[in-house]
Amino acid sequence: MLVSATEMLKKAKAGHYAVGQFNINNLEWTKAILQTAQECNSPVILGVSEGAGKYMTGYKTVVGMVNGMLEELNITVPVALHLDHGSYEGCLKCVEAGFSSIMFDGSHYPIEENVAKTTELVKIVKEHGMSLEAEVGSIGGEEDGVIGAGECADPKECKMIADLGVDFLAAGIGNIHGKYPANWKGLSFETLAAVQELTGELPLVLHGGTGIPADQIKKAIDLGVSKINVNTECQLAFADATRKYIEAGKDLEGKGFDPRKLLAPGAEAIKATVKEKMELFGSVNKA
Ligand code: 13P
Repeated sequence: MLVSATEMLKKAKAGHYAVGQFNINNLEWTKAILQTAQECNSPVILGVSEGAGKYMTGYKTVVGMVNGMLEELNITVPVALHLDHGSYEGCLKCVEAGFSSIMFDGSHYPIEENVAKTTELVKIVKEHGMSLEAEVGSIGGEEDGVIGAGECADPKECKMIADLGVDFLAAGIGNIHGKYPANWKGLSFETLAAVQELTGELPLVLHGGTGIPADQIKKAIDLGVSKINVNTECQLAFADATRKYIEAGKDLEGKGFDPRKLLAPGAEAIKATVKEKMELFGSVNKA
């Protein structure tokens, strides 16, 4: 059964580790991530962007697929199904469809509007036993059409949003979706420490997990990050393994064109990436 992400992230914050949010795109992605979480005995959050939700034909399909897999694959570790960078309308749709967690990305609104909409959603998620992530500041780069300038969050605004009763908070600290440019300045630990100071026990979320060096990940966890989002890295691993399979001509050998064979190396590559991240984040054996 799906669970909200509240308990797993409270435990992570208290235990000084982070739970990975891995974004899903299709059946192979979802299966690979769930199997790895089970093998690692780790809690996991499946992230669904609005674009990926549409691609998978809608949120109800996603809920049906994930719930089916939890049962058929005998998944016993805690799993949350979470809307990533949701609009207000997208959040309402996911509540109705049966997600267990949502992110409302109000970061592009003036803070008053972010506060107003987040307040309404806090009430709704509480009624449904779900968890809510809010965002202050913005994540640089682009993810599925959500574009951010990457400005660092104002710690006082973070406190305002935290006090509304959200379950976890994404604060922009110089992190970027997609690959980091060569001239990236690194995470702003000064901002993170200031946000943590004002938000106390609230679990903080680090978006843009792809390509952040291990030492910065560890320091971010030390400073209060309890959830780390990874998307692009699984996509790159999948594409690379699939390219190698085709370039080696394996799709032309026997029944190598069978999609179950063609997509298998990519799925294995996702599993290896997820395992590596779970080990780095410290969530292995924390289910
Ligand atoms: P990356 O694609 O950079 O890993 O970021 C993922 C993310 O933050 C999802 O919200």
